[in-house]
Parts: sequence; C-alpha cells; structure tokens
Amino acid sequence: MTDSKQEQRKTHFADDPAAGPLTTDQGVVVDHTDDSLRVGERGPTLMEDFHFREKITRFDHERIPERVVHARGAGAYGYFEPYASCAEFTRAAFLQDPGVRTPVFVRFSTVQGPRGSADTVRDVRGFATKFFTSEGNYDLVGNNFPVFFIQDGIKFPDFVHAVKMEPHNEIPTGASAHDTLWDFVSLQPETLHTIMWLMSDRAIPRSYRMMQGFGVHTFRFVNARGRGTFVKFHWKPKLGVHSLVWDEAQEAQGRDPDFNRRDLWDTIEAGEYPEWELGVQLVPEEDEHRFDFDLLDATKIIPEELVPVRPIGRLVLDRNPDNFFAETEQVAFHTANVVPGIDFTNDPLLQARNFSYLDTQLIRLGGPNFSQIPVNRPVAPVRNNQRDGYHQSSIHHGTSYSPNSLGGGCPALADPDAPAFRHLMERVDGHKIRKRSPSFEDHYTQPAMFWHSMSDWEQQHIVNAFRFELGKVNSMEVRVRTVEQLARVDHTLAVSVAEGIGVPAPAPAGQVPQPTPSPALSLENNRGTGG
Ligand code: HEM
Repeated sequence: MTDSKQEQRKTHFADDPAAGPLTTDQGVVVDHTDDSLRVGERGPTLMEDFHFREKITRFDHERIPERVVHARGAGAYGYFEPYASCAEFTRAAFLQDPGVRTPVFVRFSTVQGPRGSADTVRDVRGFATKFFTSEGNYDLVGNNFPVFFIQDGIKFPDFVHAVKMEPHNEIPTGASAHDTLWDFVSLQPETLHTIMWLMSDRAIPRSYRMMQGFGVHTFRFVNARGRGTFVKFHWKPKLGVHSLVWDEAQEAQGRDPDFNRRDLWDTIEAGEYPEWELGVQLVPEEDEHRFDFDLLDATKIIPEELVPVRPIGRLVLDRNPDNFFAETEQVAFHTANVVPGIDFTNDPLLQARNFSYLDTQLIRLGGPNFSQIPVNRPVAPVRNNQRDGYHQSSIHHGTSYSPNSLGGGCPALADPDAPAFRHLMERVDGHKIRKRSPSFEDHYTQPAMFWHSMSDWEQQHIVNAFRFELGKVNSMEVRVRTVEQLARVDHTLAVSVAEGIGVPAPAPAGQVPQPTPSPALSLENNRGTGG
C-alpha cells in the first residue's frame, strides 16, 4: 500500500551527503574545513573566509525555543485504519472505509521538564496524533490521562507557572515535588481529579507503547446530514497499560534518562510495531444534560458504565523519523486542526487551546509558514491566498486575492453544497459574563470515584506518592491545606497522607474549611452585568 506522506517526505530529503564532497549552503565545493583562512600561519582570521563565517553562523543559529510545555518528546510515523464505516456519526473521510490507511505522525511527551530532562519522571504524558487525511490534517492532541487540571484555559498560564521549575533557582527540572505546585493545588480544588491520576502509577508509564491516550475534551462528530454527536476519544494500547513502580522510575532516570524514547525507537527499529485501538464514547446531542457532571468540563470523565467505549479503528507506528529536529521537534499539533465531520464543543479549556497552539507555534517555528515544513505538510492540496512571510518555501503563481477577474487568486467555494468544512450550526444565546457554570462546581465526586476504583496496592502507591511529593513542600500551611482538600475526597486517604508528612490528621469532610477562592472561582465577584 503506498503511503502518501512517505512519498511526499522523500521529495524533501536533503541531497545525499555521501554523494560528493562538502559544499557551502550555496553548493560551492569547499577545499578544506579544518582551518580558517588566516594571514600567515599564526596571524588573524580573515573576514573574507565565507566558509568559516557561514559554518559558525549556522551553528550559532541551530537552536529554536523549546515548547513552552511538552518540551521533551519522541515521535514516529505510522498509519490509522478504521474497522468499519463511522458514517452514521461522522462524515470524516478517514473514518469511512475499513482498511483504508491514513498516514499519521505521533509525538509522545512529558509536560513539565525541559527538552533535556529525564523520561521517567512523575508527570502527565502527551499523546498527540496528526492524521494526514485526504481532506486535510486532523490533529488529536491528547494526554495519557482522561482529565485535565483546570476547567478554563485562562488559568493555564497560572497553572503552568506553578508546575514549572521555580523561578529563582529553576528547581525541580522534571519532577513535581515543590511548593508552588502544591500551593496552587490546595487553592484550586478543580485540580484534584487530575492530581489523583498524577499521584497514581499512571504517571510513570513503563513505555509509551503501554500507555493509554485520551482526547480529554468532549468533541463533536458531525455526519453528512449535519447531525452532531458528542464524542470522547480513547487510545488503548494493544500491549496493555503498564507502569513502573516509583523505585524503578527513579533508577531508570539515573541509568538511562532516555528510557521511554529509547524503548519506542528500538522496538520500531526491531519491527515490533506498537499498536493502539481508537475507541469513542458517543453521546447524542439530546442527552447533553443527562449526567451529574458537565460534558464541557475537562476535569470529568464519562464513566464507561454510563457510556461504553466503542472501538472504531487501529493505529500502528512503523517508522522512526529520519531526523529528530526536522520532524519530532518541528511538528506542530493544534487542536483547531479539524476536518469535515469533527467539530468542537464550548468546553472553555478546548476553546483556549484552539487559540494557544497556533499562537505559540508562530514564535516557536519562526513565522506563519511552518505548515510547509515537511512533517507538517498536508497530503491534501493546499490552495489559498495566504502569501509571503518568513520561510516561505512555496513558489506561488499569479495574484492572490478573491474575487478576481484578472486571473490567478484562489476562488472561494462556488457551490454551497460542495464538500467543505462547515461549522456545526449550534444555537448559542446568552449574556457576556465571566462566570463558571454551577454544573462545573463539584470537584470531589470523581476524584473519590477514582480512589475507590483502585486496588489496595494501588491506593498504597498513591499514598506513598502524596507523602513523597508533599513531604518535600517547605510550607506547612500548604501541606495542611492540601491534606484538608484530600479529606474531601476520602478521609482515610487524607489521614494516611497526613501521618506521613508530619501534619495533624484532618477533620472529616464537611468540617474542612474551603480554601480562599481565587477571584476566578468566586461567583459573587464575577456576576458581570448580565449575570
Ligand atoms: C503542547 C496536550 C491543555 C497549550 C501540548 C502537547 C500536548 C498537549 C500533547 C504536545 C504537542 C506536541 O507533541 O508537540 C494538552 C491537553 C490539554 C492541554 C490534553 C488539556 C486537555 C492546554 C491548554 C493550553 C495548552 C489549556 C493553553 C491554553 C499548549 C502549548 C503547547 C502545548 C502552548 C506547546 C505547543 C507547541 O509549542 O507546539 N499540549 N494540552 N495546552 N499545549 Fe497543551
């Protein structure tokens, strides 16, 4: 089966370095590259030495900014194929024909640490997939947890500033044990569900091949008749879910900081291709308010007892990239990269992401033309009137405006019924307010559900993790406040953690004081003119 992305990539390969002698960037053969041009054997270097200047300049400019989060990662190419047509729910072309393979690029990542940090830290893992579909690129930019720390993307800078290394000494790089994170958590109880996952063994996967992935948000499928269905995406690894235990994770950090990415690389090289099944939870539009949580709240799962996961296809990763920087570093995922048949919901976290990724990539990848970089380039034709900008590498012909009677320019779609992306015509009506829905208020039921779904030894690992992480927090006030929050999840959990970190056992839930709400959470302060 031909792989359209691989055929396209080949046209971008650099000239074979073994095919001839060293040249400059201009293709001029260089006679000697070990000594700079100088006056006499011991004299000053000459400005005229264009080879020296080019070589050093190119080296000086090798680095680009690392991703502001998810800086460290590993990627691979592969394909996705559906098991059966999903036409009843979505018109997305790549989900119609069983056996038709869509090329993909997947990047796995840690979130907190910088690009050179270790793999096996306690952290969320990114699981981002770019589908090169015949209708354009679709990016499913997910994580290995089904929930996220915050409900509204406007809190993302605060959250990341609290999670990242502390500003004065850049400690810790790649672990979560520090005051600012726990201060934030203890004051922002919406973080608790994801914190429970973070303290569990899910946060130290043994291998990227043995990790689940989740789209996290509720998205929408839209079928050919324009009917929407809410959808949550799940990746399930064929090898099952496996974690390291904490001691193994720490040892691996010392022995091999590349533990997870080496595993991915080596197994693909050995022909043991990792595989995941894509599953969906589907909720009809009319059932939007059927649950005791809000489908738009990314801190909640839809329990599988309520809505089972239906398998719809499989993902196989079968080729390592040729160049880490060109491909894994320069790949640019974006939640707003959707294709006809897949649409958004009003989840305020998703809406923020739909702004943030393109915005950050404009700086990270040096301007607006990064979708022309080979790893990002769609296999679907790209035709529009966007022009110029840094790193333009396409040679456009003719004029670039529409409507246009002089020739050139890319016309807008003439036939209103022809295939195209059309936003779902959702009716929206309301006042402009900064206020969170009361349906986002319950921060404790699902963390408790998670805790009670764990076996004894899994619960013990969670307690140990809380003790380890909170035991490193300098502020006793933050330790106490966090334990009080845990008491609202489960009193036994809170008491066990308290015992291990030298703070008093908290009062049972109900008698625990609420933390001082941040302004964003205080509904009183945020009525707005229409509230
Ligand atoms: C990067 C997932 C929330 C901003 C990433 C990546 C993943 C990811 C997997 C790495 C992509 C790659 O491999 O290149 C998620 C998930 C979220 C979430 C699952 C919540 C459900 C957010 C929010 C924001 C955000 C709320 C901002 C409002 C970013 C940025 C990057 C990033 C700026 C770096 C992108 C780049 O430089 O290319 N995220 N994220 N994320 N995320 Fe998120």
